[in-house]
Amino acid sequence: MESKPVTVIHRASIVNEGRAFTGYVAVEGEFITAVGEGEAPAELIAGADSVVDAAGRLLLPGIIDTHVHFRDPGLTHKADMATESLAAVAGGVTSFIDMPNTRPATVSTEAVEAKMRRASEVSLANYGFFIGATADNIDALAAADYSRIAGVKLFLGSSTGGMLLTEQEYLEKLFSTVPALIAVHAEDEAILRANRDAVVARYGENLTMDFHPVIRNHRACFEASKRVVDLARRHNHRLHLLHVSTADELSLLHPGTPEDKLVTAETCPQYLAFSDEQYAMLGTRIKCNPAIKRPADRDALRDAVNTGLIDTIATDHAPHLPEEKSGTALTAASGMPLIQFSLTLMLQMAEEGFFTVPLLVEKMAHNPAIIYGIDRRGFIRPGYYADLTLVNNDCEPYTITDQWVLSRCGWTPLDGLTVSNKVDMTWVNGRLAYRFGVGFSDVRGLPLSFGHKNQ
Ligand code: DOR
Ligand code: ZN
Repeated sequence: MESKPVTVIHRASIVNEGRAFTGYVAVEGEFITAVGEGEAPAELIAGADSVVDAAGRLLLPGIIDTHVHFRDPGLTHKADMATESLAAVAGGVTSFIDMPNTRPATVSTEAVEAKMRRASEVSLANYGFFIGATADNIDALAAADYSRIAGVKLFLGSSTGGMLLTEQEYLEKLFSTVPALIAVHAEDEAILRANRDAVVARYGENLTMDFHPVIRNHRACFEASKRVVDLARRHNHRLHLLHVSTADELSLLHPGTPEDKLVTAETCPQYLAFSDEQYAMLGTRIKCNPAIKRPADRDALRDAVNTGLIDTIATDHAPHLPEEKSGTALTAASGMPLIQFSLTLMLQMAEEGFFTVPLLVEKMAHNPAIIYGIDRRGFIRPGYYADLTLVNNDCEPYTITDQWVLSRCGWTPLDGLTVSNKVDMTWVNGRLAYRFGVGFSDVRGLPLSFGHKNQ
């Protein structure tokens, strides 16, 4: 039998399952074979094909970004699975789950399968896909095989791509028949429209960014979130609230571990790092839906990550070209690329005292794996896939600029931010996919396999 390459990463500061310890990880082929504290056994080192001395570095389970828009197919002028998966591994992200607002929209199992084929051809990272809910496909959603689909994505408020399902009758049917987790973009479409009309009637169409959170306001978020939480409770159905952006919505959530929850929640780095105070400086670069709101919301979200009201941090990586981002609060495209620097940004916030590193690992690797029931990923454990991220968490400070961006769009909302951590290496299924600034474009991720469902 052909022997598989063995890699030993030793003297690392391993952050996993709530603790940090100095130790080693052995990898054989695609899988982790040993995890230990202290010095690696000499025979393990002697038998390895490659040995990485990780002294002074953090070794984390690969980040699982469960909310990305890679634009493939149909919007590949903005991004595609090859470019964005390269940006992902450069940011320590080893698996992603992609949203259905592509062209065509991913609203059939055939469309999901087509994306899986495309990803198998070009993606450096492991991949999974949502299927979108529409008024026409609920019967098909009820019959789909959710071992290969991450869950159902429901837009209650329209955003890029215009997917929308708001009629109560369809929502009841969705929550009563679909045997899968439902992930929701919760903004109330009627409130958004009324706000927009009122603002335009009073101030005209040439609106600065300050108006974005006036149109996409707290009430739109709260009412929509309340509506789906109510549906989830009445139908005893698993719900994951996406990109929570307000303090108000936190009153709908409970602390605890995701295994025990009917309703789990995600927020994103942009809601934790920014507030409406940054609109004057960053303008439409930080225009996204839901809108970034007030400092009080940002602070409450930071607390909620710490107290367990919020379960996951995902990016909502939503690249658009710079020219598409120009315009007013009404016309500029919504969304920003973040996948390459999300871990770095969150580690920087940990450095500043907002979070601990084990907590970030929980929110960005463990809990995503638990919530989506991802098979053998998200933890550093023997028998699990060797998806690993090695980080220099104490490097010479450097400034992130647009030039660094590997995403096709070529810009980042973090341009100008000085940080003191850097992803050194990323392994995907035991293969080095990124090392010291270089991505290995021949590496291919695997399809994610999903277990936990609403059964
Ligand atoms: O800001 C956003 N951009 N919010 C969304 O819901 C969609 C995303 C996109 O696809 O551009
Ligand atoms: Zn999104």
